[in-house]
Amino acid sequence: MNVTIRGRTEHFRTVTFDAKSNSVRLIEQRLLPHEFKIVGRKNFRATASAITDMVVRGAGAIGATAAYGLAQGALAFRGNDLKKFSAHVELVYKTLADARPTAVDPVNAMNDVRRHMARGETVAEQQSLALAAAEEFANEDSRHCEEIGQHGAKLIRNGMKILTHCNAGWLAFVDTGTATAPMYAAQAQGKKFHVFCDETRPRSQGASLTAWELAQQKVSHQIIADNAAGHLMQRGEIDLVIVGSDRTLGRTGEVTNKIGTYTKAVLAARHKIPFYVAIPCSTIDWKLKRGFDIPIEDRHESEVLGAWGVTKSGQREYVRVANPTSGARNPGFDVTPAELITGIITPAGIFKPQELWKQRSKLGFPASTAIELASTAK
Ligand code: MRU
Repeated sequence: MNVTIRGRTEHFRTVTFDAKSNSVRLIEQRLLPHEFKIVGRKNFRATASAITDMVVRGAGAIGATAAYGLAQGALAFRGNDLKKFSAHVELVYKTLADARPTAVDPVNAMNDVRRHMARGETVAEQQSLALAAAEEFANEDSRHCEEIGQHGAKLIRNGMKILTHCNAGWLAFVDTGTATAPMYAAQAQGKKFHVFCDETRPRSQGASLTAWELAQQKVSHQIIADNAAGHLMQRGEIDLVIVGSDRTLGRTGEVTNKIGTYTKAVLAARHKIPFYVAIPCSTIDWKLKRGFDIPIEDRHESEVLGAWGVTKSGQREYVRVANPTSGARNPGFDVTPAELITGIITPAGIFKPQELWKQRSKLGFPASTAIELASTAK
């Protein structure tokens, strides 16, 4: 998307790759909205840490980062021994897959890269196939978001007030975003609407990232406290909810997303407000059979016990808010059951969550999954 800093407008992707220096380049999201900075990660371990430490975050963005990280690790290998190369690639894969457990995009992206690599007969061939496949994953992520925008824009009418949670904007993908894509497409069609961004404690991705994005794109919006949505719904001030997802089960339609999403879905159902989830195909997990089995990341208690901000002099600082002797529990995500979801906005159209499995051929169901499912069914 375009970013305007000190009057200068430029197009950026959240994740790119610099082949000359074999580095993954990322927008340093922890500094936003106060500072816009691109940082480089020079080896696969540093790329994995950038995912863990949330320099880069959001399902599609960490998917593309993992894909590039796998290519980066593969390209760093010296020698011609395919067996040693495969063992090295396995280590790179595991390191990146373990960086954050809940989102399925990194694993789907890296499986995709590995499928392409397998066509190469030498180390050099596999190395160049890896980079080409990572680039293709990033390009496809961006295309998928555009397509989500075209389908989702039909849901937005003039004068609507839309609620979104966390950041499923372009910062969470390679470009355009998922929950925000229908908004950007509707804006381009000349529609007028207003967005409420849930603050999204504990890391405040809504207040810091979504609000920054919408301000950059000149979309009318306000930040609300996480607890305010029910009140606004009760007063008829929210017409539509659109959120993203970190892992959506293709077999059941259950949606994992940032903690607090489930609460909003329950509230939306109570008030008969349509609740949509926007996802690219890489966010679908075709294997898991029930939401209860989705690994939910437990994050550090410091995120709940305090907050990051910027002082008047521009210094980034953490302040403790909570009682000094109390601890905290910090699950990062929750699972929303299919019956609370009006529809899933995908690159192939809008479907009921329970229809994903039936629509799997349109939604990029990978052939390797078909083989595994067939063998487990025996
Ligand atoms: O912990 P994060 O910020 O990486 O969480 C991911 C998210 O931003 C959200 O859950 C988002 O709504 C879906 S991912 C695009």
